[in-house]
Amino acid sequence: MAVRYQITGGTAAEISASVESGVRSGALPPDSALPPVRALAAALAVSPATVARAYQELRQRGLVATAGRHGTRVRPRPPVATRRAARYPTPGPGVRDLSRGQPDLRLLPPLGPHLARLADRIGPPTGYAPAGVLPELAEAARERLTADGVPVDGLTVTGGALDGIERLLAAHLRPGDPVAVEDPGWANLLDLVAALGLRPVAVPVDDDGPTEAGVRDALALGARALIVTSRAQNPTGAAVSADRAGALRALLAGRPDVLLVEDDHAAELARLPLHPLAGATPSWAFVRSVSKPYGPDLRLALLTGDETTVARVAGRMSVGPGWVSTLLQRLVLALWTDPATTELVTRAEESYQRRRAALIAALAGHGLTAHGRSGINVWLPVPDETSAVTALRDAGWAVAPGGLFRIGAPPAVRLTISPLDDAEIPALADAVAHALRPARPAGFTA
Ligand SMILES: Cc1ncc(COP(=O)(O)O)c(C=O)c1O
Repeated sequence: MAVRYQITGGTAAEISASVESGVRSGALPPDSALPPVRALAAALAVSPATVARAYQELRQRGLVATAGRHGTRVRPRPPVATRRAARYPTPGPGVRDLSRGQPDLRLLPPLGPHLARLADRIGPPTGYAPAGVLPELAEAARERLTADGVPVDGLTVTGGALDGIERLLAAHLRPGDPVAVEDPGWANLLDLVAALGLRPVAVPVDDDGPTEAGVRDALALGARALIVTSRAQNPTGAAVSADRAGALRALLAGRPDVLLVEDDHAAELARLPLHPLAGATPSWAFVRSVSKPYGPDLRLALLTGDETTVARVAGRMSVGPGWVSTLLQRLVLALWTDPATTELVTRAEESYQRRRAALIAALAGHGLTAHGRSGINVWLPVPDETSAVTALRDAGWAVAPGGLFRIGAPPAVRLTISPLDDAEIPALADAVAHALRPARPAGFTA
């Protein structure tokens, strides 16, 4: 995207502050191109080294990314609050929005009745003293995780999965360190890795999780951490299979230099069994969010791992926000122990499975191969993302361009099935097939 914004400054700090100000004001929206180093240096009458230093500083803070011939561009979601939220432009009227990877709000448990019951039992106000992980929640979490084959030594609670992952990376890695991430992978994680000044190393993903060759290569490149999505991988729906888990465990065995992080965000919503890697390396963590089955606004995730790793995260929490409110912890416990909620989560799981399978089958009927072994998304490789996204929007469907999730993986689009009704699926598949039909050459007449 070409943008007219006058970058100013005579020093590296002034230039980077000017770019940051443009990002904040919305004058430099995501994906806008910054001028080439030499051109900006000439315009500002400074040396190219000064501009290069400014760009490097912005890169280390995750505001911009430099990608070969694409030059330096503002990242999709720079870690600076902007006046315009431009990441997912609001689709126009009449457009069905399948671009946001959020759970089906119709299938999340209502919190009102649980809050009302908690209100009756809440007791007198609490101060700082009883803060921390609620023992009852820890006990219930331990049971759930152990039943899934995850060893539980230490356990703590964070403000969601990404909060936990941020603390893990900050506790074990330093800016500039390489970190192995799935490609394609969760856009928010790529944003976080950039904001921490870490270097992403792309690990290809197939339907069974990160590929063995991809992990081997990333380790050979010196990755200091590996982040794996256990199930419902975002965006591809991959789930780590038993065989893949075995192969990855073998690769990771005896690697004290690598922090292994597993993200099991689908948790109770995942239909497929968990095949954890937990414990394959001496430094490991397993993070399970409650966002997908119970609601993103609960902002809570369980984090287990080796004693040192959990102690670092819990200790860093304690000198920062302190703890996740015991009110939220109690609410999660109430949801876990409510049979009606458990049934709702099972129904949600079935509904996602049915709609995903129906969409993949309908696309296959048009000769299109899409992916989605588990979770709430379907990932469809396309020849050209921009034209696919535009043609689908014109046909009344907003989908997410794969560029938000990719490093080197081939182009694709992500369709989140959460808002879809069963009856809409054939029409969506028709629209996709139509959108991907190659344009007829000019002058062609049938
Ligand atoms: C791969 C992945 N991990 C975790 C989450 C949930 O994270 P949080 O607990 O921060 O809401 C999501 C949500 O989309 C996700 O896609």
